[in-house]
Amino acid sequence: MPVNLSGRSFLKLLDFTPDEIRYLIRLSKQFKNLKLSGTPHKYLEGKNIVLLFEKTSTRTRCSFEVAGYDLGMGVTYLDPGSSQMGKKESIEDTARVLGRMYDGIEYRGYSQELVEELAANAGVPVWNGLTDEFHPTQMIADMLTVEENFPGGIKGLKFVFMGDARNNVANSLMVVCSKLGLHFVACGPEDRMPEESLVATCRELCEQSGGSVTLTSSVEEACTGAHVIYTDIWVSMGEPTELWAERIKLLSPYQVNADVMALASDDAIFLHCLPSFHDLKTTIGAEIYEKFGLPEMEVTDEVFEGPQSRVFDEAENRMHSIKAIVYATLR
Ligand code: CP
Ligand code: NVA
Repeated sequence: MPVNLSGRSFLKLLDFTPDEIRYLIRLSKQFKNLKLSGTPHKYLEGKNIVLLFEKTSTRTRCSFEVAGYDLGMGVTYLDPGSSQMGKKESIEDTARVLGRMYDGIEYRGYSQELVEELAANAGVPVWNGLTDEFHPTQMIADMLTVEENFPGGIKGLKFVFMGDARNNVANSLMVVCSKLGLHFVACGPEDRMPEESLVATCRELCEQSGGSVTLTSSVEEACTGAHVIYTDIWVSMGEPTELWAERIKLLSPYQVNADVMALASDDAIFLHCLPSFHDLKTTIGAEIYEKFGLPEMEVTDEVFEGPQSRVFDEAENRMHSIKAIVYATLR
């Protein structure tokens, strides 16, 4: 069956079939080739999109902006400090107004319910640029990066998420791996594992795809023979900073370091959605060092900068894949 995503919102990967997800990865590759060869692709000239950010962003914002410009569109960026959004006007009202002016709306914020509500009311496609629960656009870039490194196919690969396996990125990785038939392993402390109901949903998806979902606190069990080792920061945006002490204690055993990478397959790659605390060159990194004496957190600088790290290819792929998502839903 041909895939047609025109007019659809992109809120979470649970809403998409494996064929639709594979189509978006394929389309991302095509846009990457167009960009690399300098071939113009202003396929959406005359359209306009608006980007609503209630949390900060580098990659997602810039990817939507560059994707929009490359596709020939007008792009508006709004944050709570420069619009009525949040303080004087609800997000829902904001979206209903913007739906009258724009062809598509990106939203990064807190609850998943809110982005779903936006999509129900906006009358135009809404793209989830990260909520507390999911980060779906990141997944298309991540799977593209995995495919680039395993050209023989990604089905059946062992994909390990280390650390805070209850966060938005881990949830989304579990979903995409289950849809595409990878063996997903969440490795962390028991009380930072994904919600049981989402695990159950993903295990059902695995029956179709041939993938699997494993939850473990054993680094050795998780990482032995792994093809991809992925991690994310230990306290996500919107969580209270007081959590740092507790999370450092809980998650330090799950830091990705050279010993962890040594357990993995020889051709294993390291991925991280970024931003990352791998050195002392950030304000928060320096503060944590002063308070807790930790010079690096979820990943060591050695692994982050090492030969198996693909984090900057992954970051670049955000732009190609967001372009594919925007194009597919607005064409
Ligand atoms: N990975 C990611 O979403 O990065 P930003 O927070 O910079 O957008
Ligand atoms: N889990 C992180 C992802 C950032 C891209 C956060 O929500 O802050």
